[in-house]
Amino acid sequence: MKNFIKGVILAGGTATRLKPLTKVTNKHLLPIGRKPMIYYPIEKLRNAGIEEILIVTGMDHMGSVVNLLGSGKDFDCKFTYKVQDEAGGIAQALALAENFAGGKAVAVILGDNIFEDSLTPYLEKYAEIGSGSHILLKEVHDPERFGVAEVECSKVVSIEEKPKVPKSNLAVTGVYFYDGGVYDIIKTLKPSGRGEYEISDVNNHYIKSGKMTWSSMQGWWSDAGTFESLAKVQKLVEEAPPK
Ligand code: DAU
Repeated sequence: MKNFIKGVILAGGTATRLKPLTKVTNKHLLPIGRKPMIYYPIEKLRNAGIEEILIVTGMDHMGSVVNLLGSGKDFDCKFTYKVQDEAGGIAQALALAENFAGGKAVAVILGDNIFEDSLTPYLEKYAEIGSGSHILLKEVHDPERFGVAEVECSKVVSIEEKPKVPKSNLAVTGVYFYDGGVYDIIKTLKPSGRGEYEISDVNNHYIKSGKMTWSSMQGWWSDAGTFESLAKVQKLVEEAPPK
């Protein structure tokens, strides 16, 4: 079953919100609990049975990432690496997965997203649906920091990236499933106001074509891109270790 999908971890970006911690290293190599941050998304994909994983990161720290992770032997999987020349956005980073995916679906995790749930039930649900995109949403008290989804029953109606007045408290987590059509969508995108190729624009394409489904994350979820969220994740990982 797991043969239909490959894993992608997006670990580029500039991580300016965590300076000076990220002045000489990549955000995803910072420690959370007893491991580097990037171990968490890797373990999520591995525990769900995904064996081929692409890691995208920037030029500055690719050497350190490869030094840490190697071929994948230690994780019983196979890593492929791709360099994102500039931090031009999450969708731009995902575009680099096209050849690696070879037409297969991808399970994408943003490298700074740490969560409790196992990926397996969501992967099984996406496998059943068989195409389009599937996203995981989580209720939060500060939705304006995230992509925010408006839903009607099982349908996602819209996604807004960091809205000033959020239409719901459902954050779009950085865990996405996409079929092989995602790269053609990315090719049609234009940079947003903040100069990035936005993953929310990709998701809105899927919504418009009626090919977007969603699940609600059950356990805890957080990003770790700010000092506050990084401190929060440290606690969560200790209190209820990810499955
Ligand atoms: O954490 C979930 C949120 O992540 C979503 O709710 C938003 O819709 C999504 O846009 C994203 O928001 P952020 O502004 O928090 O994303 P950030 O720029 O912090 O990037 C998150 C991760 O994506 C980062 O850890 C590495 C990867 N990334 C990001 C950029 C901008 C790349 O690999 N390349 C990039 O160019």
